[in-house]
Amino acid sequence: MERKKVTITDIQNKKRDGKKITALTAYDYPMARVLDEAGLDIVLVGDSLGMVVLGYDSTVPVTMDEMIHHAKAVRRGTKYAFMIGDMPFLSYQVSKEDAIRNAGRFMKEAGCDAVKLEGGYDAVEATEAIVNAGIAVLGHIGLTPQSASKLGGFKVQANSAERARRLIDEALMLEKAGCFAVVLECVPEAVAKIVTEKLSIPTISCGAGRWCDGQILVLNDVIGLYDKFTPKFVKQYAKLSHAALEGVKKYKDEVEKGIFPSDEHVFTIKEEELRKLKKRR
Ligand code: KIV
Repeated sequence: MERKKVTITDIQNKKRDGKKITALTAYDYPMARVLDEAGLDIVLVGDSLGMVVLGYDSTVPVTMDEMIHHAKAVRRGTKYAFMIGDMPFLSYQVSKEDAIRNAGRFMKEAGCDAVKLEGGYDAVEATEAIVNAGIAVLGHIGLTPQSASKLGGFKVQANSAERARRLIDEALMLEKAGCFAVVLECVPEAVAKIVTEKLSIPTISCGAGRWCDGQILVLNDVIGLYDKFTPKFVKQYAKLSHAALEGVKKYKDEVEKGIFPSDEHVFTIKEEELRKLKKRR
């Protein structure tokens, strides 16, 4: 069957049909190609970029320019998946105009299909403004890493009746504001189940358990390329850092011992040409 580009309708139909939505983050061209070839529905250029690629301690320092630079590379490697740009800290909180302008940059400069905003009540105004400007928005509530400091650190959210009620309200508000789906991060799965049942748009779990309509994780956690901190909800499917270290160590050893390069890695010149060359010198 001919493969087609994933659309919002395809993503929303998956909820209706009881099929799981698959999503991961990507930050560059080669990994975007891997995700696209694997057939994922969604590729998110997450602002987790700041921590797992740029080496910052949090996502707070990430700038719009950094996000656009990486989103452009991901675009070049993504043919079929639905590609979302993650709005970094302070790119949508200051004013509605800023929010629209920066969301627009993801669409115009990087060719994204949608943007993602962190926040519940606080993000409703910006979400509405961006949606009204004709740009699709993925919501993100529960643990919102850009405001981890305000939330008291990277910890489970909505784990009391009162906080869970607030999360449900926020999810409903984001649906009303026009989000096409919402990410629930670090939330007890029983609470995520209630949200999933209450919303007509899909929920995508990032540490919110099995009852959501889809799953998303940070790629570098999944393939073992980031070992500074691994949340409980992450499952590692490959150990690329380890494989890379082994490869680089072997390269160093072979260079030092004169094993690399060998015959198969060098270029030759005809004996006759070489003789002429040596004679003339
Ligand atoms: O920045 C990110 O990578 C994210 C998710 C994993 C949801 O926001």
